[in-house]
Amino acid sequence: MYVNRKHRTCLELGMLSELRKFPGNVSYSRIIQEIKSLNNDRKVHGILVQLPLPEHLNHKKVLETVDPKKDVDGLHPYNHGKNLLGKDCFRPATPRGIMTLLERTKTRLEGKHAVVIGRSNIVGKPIAVMLLNSDCTVTICHSKTRNLPSLCRQADILVAAVGKPHFIKANMVKKGAIVIDVGINRLKDGKITGDVDFENVRKKASWITPVPKGVGPMTIASLMENTVKACKEIEWPKNSD
Ligand code: GUN
Repeated sequence: MYVNRKHRTCLELGMLSELRKFPGNVSYSRIIQEIKSLNNDRKVHGILVQLPLPEHLNHKKVLETVDPKKDVDGLHPYNHGKNLLGKDCFRPATPRGIMTLLERTKTRLEGKHAVVIGRSNIVGKPIAVMLLNSDCTVTICHSKTRNLPSLCRQADILVAAVGKPHFIKANMVKKGAIVIDVGINRLKDGKITGDVDFENVRKKASWITPVPKGVGPMTIASLMENTVKACKEIEWPKNSD
């Protein structure tokens, strides 16, 4: 779903976008060869390796092969490190989109208690870092966290990236909290729903994102922003074609 949306949005914006699909049993060396060729291709400013990858492909090594200057998904360790230090870099698209949403609420983030549920490299860790660098007090929760509901109730900003439909109930949310729902869960009837019990939680929240049409479109928009940034900033080596 997202791959198609990313591709379509690029075309709508007038960007070249090429989707390269491989069979599930593709070799590690074939993928590495493909990424290296894209790294050296002057028509290409951004490279995104859609995750998850099949088990036999070492996803860390694959992501590390992407040139950090073309890493529009912000998943190369170089960009993760720069994000941690609060330096200019490619930040992962979903956290970047969340920060844009928070900015648009005009809420002062300084000193706010942000509770992030989830510690993935794509969402949980980078958004926690970005909130910390915006002077929030940050708590990161995960599957082994104790007293999760009580931690959630302390949140001025609650970011749910759990992967369980309607996991966040109204009694886990402080009145006036900002609630960001990163979940994309497909129900048995085929409908997509988030991690938050939206209908009940919205009555307590000051701001809340729906699913669908909340964080998802912001992820796509942020990926496009990153790609424009890559195009503007890339410096090709002088001594090669
Ligand atoms: N799989 C699920 N979300 C994402 C994402 O934001 N980027 C990539 N590369 N893969 C994903």
